[in-house]
Amino acid sequence: MSTATELLSAIKDVGTDPTRGGYSRHGFDHAELELREWFTAEAGKRGLDVEVDRNGNIWAWWGAPGPDALVTGSHLDSVPGGGAFDGPLGVVSALAAVDVLQAKEFKPGRPLALMVFAEEEGGRFGVPCLGSRLLAGVTSAETALALKDRDGDTFADAVKAAGLDPARIGRDDEALSRIGKFVELHVEQGRGLIDIGSAVGVATSILAHGRWRFRFTGQGNHAGATPMTTRHDPMLPASQLVLSARWAASGVDGARATVGRIEPIPGGTNVIASSVDVWLDARGPNDGRTRTVVERITAAARQAARDEGCEVTVTEESYGDTVHFDSALREELADALGGKVPGLPTGAGHDAGILAAHVPTAMLFVRNPTGISHAPAEHAEADDCEAGVAALAKVLEKLAG
Ligand code: GLV
Ligand code: MN
Ligand code: MN
Repeated sequence: MSTATELLSAIKDVGTDPTRGGYSRHGFDHAELELREWFTAEAGKRGLDVEVDRNGNIWAWWGAPGPDALVTGSHLDSVPGGGAFDGPLGVVSALAAVDVLQAKEFKPGRPLALMVFAEEEGGRFGVPCLGSRLLAGVTSAETALALKDRDGDTFADAVKAAGLDPARIGRDDEALSRIGKFVELHVEQGRGLIDIGSAVGVATSILAHGRWRFRFTGQGNHAGATPMTTRHDPMLPASQLVLSARWAASGVDGARATVGRIEPIPGGTNVIASSVDVWLDARGPNDGRTRTVVERITAAARQAARDEGCEVTVTEESYGDTVHFDSALREELADALGGKVPGLPTGAGHDAGILAAHVPTAMLFVRNPTGISHAPAEHAEADDCEAGVAALAKVLEKLAG
């Protein structure tokens, strides 16, 4: 019988990032593959049968696999330089909840599975929730297989190296039909539970959100020999996009826009870039407000590109509309938890949000005393993690009893 904290401590040295701080664990890289093996061994210790689906998502079955299963889980990958809890807390809590239930000799009355989703953060291939998107057919196999990481390796290369068949990647109705209800436990990524003064909460909604890649192209040239008047420097419209993101999102109620990733080619101090890729993350309370922000930023970026004699292409890499979690399932969770659990919205995306369009889905949040996430300062106290495990165990017991 292990606590969530003990299980997290068993993986604390996997994928540490000495340059960025925190963890860099990305879909099918060395660190994530090591974590997958670790999870598979932990599931085995609990007598769960592990299988990997066509899209690289791991399923650990307590009892026979079946339709209408109760499924819980999260992901093991991180953003570059991420915290220890985003993803892994949901996975270790699922294992610890199984321990709690097995200690009580609970026998599930319906199929029950733990899941680990592949490439949730999109830290390697750019598209978030890739495992659940592929499973549900939200992203096509063709699009996914062609995605490239920073080294130029494709998703097709990565899945092949991990022992999967690229020809079998894609929408998997059979696997999807096994999920009757999905519950994801996750560290909270803001200050909601701090403000409420509660260790555990239930998600109500997720902001609409997406990623857009802007490629600005100009004329690569010498930083010293090129007069300021004859330049076509794509870094100029790229910078304008960064400023426009702040301005545009600040003008739309509840919206957020971020540029956290810029890649100049070739990326030399004494070189005017020939092209710059800028990744925009934009979110909002609904589709209309999110799209308004992106349109305003795009218009400003296009104008800035024209002013500098550069070209720009814009690619929508991913998008998901606002998610409102299933209210009946939320009530079932509240019931299982004695009716006293606060509901709170989130600005973060999750596999639960992708699955919500297909099956009743819910999320449990565990308090994060720093309110910081996607950074090494992300945290959850051991007692709150145990409160999360206890809550998840009660929910599994109630829904699978
Ligand atoms: C994932 O955590 C996201 O919200 O981008
Ligand atoms: Mn995340
Ligand atoms: Mn996450």
